[in-house]
Amino acid sequence: DFTPNAFVEETIADLKQKIGNDRVILGLSGGVDSTVAAVLLNKAIGENLYCIFVNNGLLRKDEFQSVLDQYKGMGLNVKGVDAADRFLGELAGIEEPEAKRKVIGKVFVDVFDDESKLVKDAKWLGQGTIYPDVIESVSVKGPSATIKSHHNVGGLPDYMKLQVVEPLRMLFKDEVRRVGASLGIDPELLGRHPFPGPGLSIRILGDITPEKVAILQEVDAIFINGLKEHGLYNDVWQAGAILLPVNSVGVMGDERTYEKVVALRAVQSTDGMTADWVHLPYEFLMEISNKIINRVKGVNRVVYDISSKPPATIEWE
Ligand code: XMP
Repeated sequence: DFTPNAFVEETIADLKQKIGNDRVILGLSGGVDSTVAAVLLNKAIGENLYCIFVNNGLLRKDEFQSVLDQYKGMGLNVKGVDAADRFLGELAGIEEPEAKRKVIGKVFVDVFDDESKLVKDAKWLGQGTIYPDVIESVSVKGPSATIKSHHNVGGLPDYMKLQVVEPLRMLFKDEVRRVGASLGIDPELLGRHPFPGPGLSIRILGDITPEKVAILQEVDAIFINGLKEHGLYNDVWQAGAILLPVNSVGVMGDERTYEKVVALRAVQSTDGMTADWVHLPYEFLMEISNKIINRVKGVNRVVYDISSKPPATIEWE
């Protein structure tokens, strides 16, 4: 049986022993895993942990600033790096899902590498890898094809010459949350839905532009805030919105419109390997759909994704 307190104690002792007085660099994503990994490392080695939080321009609405503030409030030694223009610039015109992931992985490594050079004599790279990441990235790499390359596993190049330290490598998500709770991390942060490293880029089907990102951020914020307001957020494992690369005809007043379609997705899961779509109340879906269409310019139709995994995946790309 898993006991978070014992895990915390043992892990901190191990990390102290393993790392000693070395410096560690860790990329924070705003998610549960990297945050819990950072707090564990911070307890073990204090100011020798250098955290970097990169804005890739594909985060949720206002998330870069709010998450950065939250990290600082937790006493983490964290630097926010706003690289949104660099990411969006390199992504321009790219439509293919795996190509998007590759570009994002590459730019992330470049940005991260630049930043890590500023930390003199760093020896270690801390990562929030958890057990399902390890399994899925192994199991999807058949000889024929990679289903989806999760860029946060093994994606960093050798030239960084850092040893990897992954304190959560043997844990499942629920165990990570329990460890986080025993470390005193804000329950709201621990309860956050998983969010993919490539962010909104894989929820914008087709090419990515800053305008599309802004539209999707608005739609996503209405949906997620709605789930919170209605007390549904914690009943859902992951939720988000997808911007489809099609226009459909609508009518607004006496005007014909020809605008974008968004899909809403909410799933129940334990580890992301399988998932069922959530039976959100019709009244709730009606309210959210109306809000989105009335408030978000450029969107005139909302659909709800009723596909489970397998055979569909959680993300659309
Ligand atoms: P799929 O779409 O494969 O997603 O059913 C399973 C879980 O993984 C997340 N996901 C990713 N996370 N980099 C990530 O860090 C990725 O490239 C990536 N692709 C999917 C997805 O959000 C879900 O939680």
